[in-house]
This record gives sequence, structure tokens and C-alpha cells, in this order.
Amino acid sequence: MQVAIDLNKSEVEIYEECFVILEHLIISSDKIISNLSNYIALMKQAFSKISWIGFYIRENDKLFLGPFQGKTACTEILIGNGVCGTSAHIRETIIVNNVNEFAGHIACDSSSKSEIVIPIIINEQVWGVLDIDSSAIGSFSTMDKNYLEKQIELLTKKLNLDEFVLQ
Ligand code: SME
Repeated sequence: MQVAIDLNKSEVEIYEECFVILEHLIISSDKIISNLSNYIALMKQAFSKISWIGFYIRENDKLFLGPFQGKTACTEILIGNGVCGTSAHIRETIIVNNVNEFAGHIACDSSSKSEIVIPIIINEQVWGVLDIDSSAIGSFSTMDKNYLEKQIELLTKKLNLDEFVLQ
């Protein structure tokens, strides 16, 4: 499905538009990998402030790189390590205004300056995280957190993510 987004709109307007698009873009009968990839592509296309966006998917005590857009990234993160592993551990969204001030931040891309990580919980288990980076300091706020958590809720309602198999 082709999507055109007016990048001159406000961030709130773009988030609102993305939500409407997602309701059509995410198709329960399609493959999970296809839906996750399209979600990532939509967000990368919609927000110029995003330098990297992707999923890390949990298996036992590790997170593994899933569908993403941006520069090549680390493929494995231990639960508890970095911003992603910490978010998975405490099961809360983490906003990092300046990655240099987050002890243990894992620098996959040296141009990354701020980051937001949203945990994805299915059946009370951590399924994985959504990780978003920006090359500017302080790119993410509670406004982003609220919209991103709403998007993740939509994804988890439409897709049986727990059926996704890491091989
Ligand atoms: N910065 C993340 C690692 C993943 S990359 O940003 C893609 C972290 O500290 O967990």
C-alpha cells in the first residue's frame, strides 16, 4: 500500500494521520514480519527526526534485532543492558534526552543523540521493544511516548505477536 504523508504538518497531526493509516496498513491475515516491516517503514517515512527505528525481539534473556530502518545495528542485546535491555527489564518506556548521559547506553550509531524505547508486553511476558533513535538531542517527549504506546497497542491487538518465531 502506497502512503503519502505531508511532512509539513505538526508532529501531533502526523501521529494522528499515522494512526489512521495503520488501521488499514496492518492486516491481521498478512505475515507478522510484513506488518512489522511496513510499520517501521511508515514511521521512518513520516518523521524526519527519526534516524533509526526498529524492533528488538526477546528470546530467553536476550533481545534480537528485528525489522528496522537505518544504519546497520547490533544484533543482540542482553536484558538489562543498554536502553533497550533496561526498558525490557523494567517494562517501562524510557526516554533518553542525551544518550551520553545514560550509563550503559549501547552506541550502534555514533550519530545517535537521543532515544526512546517502548517495551512490548504480550500475555504478561516481554515480547520485545520498539527502539527509536534521533541524531538530535531531546527529540522525544511524553507526547511521542503516548502516541507510540497507542501504536504498539494497535499492533498487539491486530497481530498475534506471540506466534512470531525467531529462528
Ligand atoms: N542504543 C540502544 C542499542 C540499539 S541501537 O540504538 C539501534 C541501546 O542502548 O539499547
